[in-house]
Amino acid sequence: MAQYDLIVIGAGPGGYVCAIRAAQLGLKTAVVEGRDSLGGTCLNVGCIPSKALLHATHQLHEVDHTFAKMGLKTQTPEVDWAQMQAYKDDVIAQNTKGIEFLFKKNKIDWIKGWGSIPAPGQVKVGDETHSAKSIVIATGSEPSALPGIEIDEKTVVTSTGALALEKIPASMVVIGGGVIGLELGSVYKRLGADVTVVEFLDGITPGLDGEVAKNFEKILKKQGLNIITGAAVQRVDNAGKSATVHYKTRKDEKDHELQAEVVLVATGRRSYVGGLGLDAVGVQVTDRGQVRIDKHYATNVKGIYAIGDAVVGPMLAHKAEDEGMAVAEIIAGQAGHVNYGVIPAVVYTSPEVASVGETEETLKTAGRAYKVGKFSFMGNGRAKANFAADGFVKILADKDTDRILGAHIIGPMAGDLIHEICVAMEFGAAAEDLARTCHAHPTYSEAVREAALACNTGAIHA
Ligand code: NAI
Repeated sequence: MAQYDLIVIGAGPGGYVCAIRAAQLGLKTAVVEGRDSLGGTCLNVGCIPSKALLHATHQLHEVDHTFAKMGLKTQTPEVDWAQMQAYKDDVIAQNTKGIEFLFKKNKIDWIKGWGSIPAPGQVKVGDETHSAKSIVIATGSEPSALPGIEIDEKTVVTSTGALALEKIPASMVVIGGGVIGLELGSVYKRLGADVTVVEFLDGITPGLDGEVAKNFEKILKKQGLNIITGAAVQRVDNAGKSATVHYKTRKDEKDHELQAEVVLVATGRRSYVGGLGLDAVGVQVTDRGQVRIDKHYATNVKGIYAIGDAVVGPMLAHKAEDEGMAVAEIIAGQAGHVNYGVIPAVVYTSPEVASVGETEETLKTAGRAYKVGKFSFMGNGRAKANFAADGFVKILADKDTDRILGAHIIGPMAGDLIHEICVAMEFGAAAEDLARTCHAHPTYSEAVREAALACNTGAIHA
């Protein structure tokens, strides 16, 4: 049996990135993965397939809503659901095969099967036990079920089932107005389903900057998404061909029900560490079921580390990737590090929503003096030409030092635009630094510069 420097359990974005970095640093590395393909939830049943469906349905929306205005005559497009699914599956295959190629290139062994840790320095897969100086747990997360709701992945589905429905439903109720609910809800809305989102809190997307969240809700409602807030779902009755969602509204304490062909349960995810045998080996978990780690991703058991959705923090693929790189560097004797103050978050709806750093709410709670620079995409020539003028860029900067503390964008390509602000924050830049940087015209990025200008001397096109 080969003796490894490192065995990573789980080949999602955290695990596979960790393995590649470790191999690059000269560690003999293996990854244990039980799925038939690499890439974890993100590549197989998460980020990547959902982006394929978001892209396809966004194109459909463009044909329906903007082509005629631009003088492009076309027939009303028909949706070939089987072909759209095949396109999605092809995108998944291209990406997961890409990771296989990277493993071969970096001489990383893929140990196929589900792993457990019988003792420090050992990983058991099937009947075989492999040994390693270090073990990284990168087992990710799973949808967290609500009591009273049984998932069959046909009529009552999680995001996994929602990505592969047999047909486009005429109606859908989405439980939870978070990232998954809104991304997938908007896919089916664009495909013609009557979609209603039922959210427990008083607004959608908890944790986003309040002003952005309110605008986002308004834009989604304008697009035809029904959104009911302040509503706690109690149970779902599944009748096979349809299901009934029972919920209570907070303001009047009244019971309501909604029937739909498909119910998507998108009420959050929880760490997945089942089957690892953590108890037996003595690795501590938190009361929320996450693996307990120190600042260097080390568990309480020497030589066992954990990263990504399996530990505390936002459940984001890129956060897991950064932790994967950092822990590989630490294991190789280097100084791996993640700056948790600069982790962007993106909702891939249309328009996109992106944020990084502090929100007005967190700054107010901390009692910090700040200033706001805001610029609407209405003042951006490129956005107007592209029918994408809904939304704005908002930059929050320290009132005295002008240092950028956070940024929030709702609008076209927000998920890409946010990164120049991330880089600026990483370098400790002031809003003035962004404002003095020449931005090409005509680009969406000019809106970022204008928001930076608005923090001080004022935007030009406002
Ligand atoms: P979430 O935590 O983003 O949202 C869940 C929502 O469900 C919350 O707004 C919550 O208030 C609501 N809720 C909970 N119980 C409820 C009830 N009984 N009735 C009505 N509403 C209820 O969770 P989500 O969307 O499931 O996503 C899971 C994780 O995956 C998140 O951490 C998310 O960040 C991550 N993710 C990230 C994506 C991205 O970065 N684009 C895409 C998809 C997922």
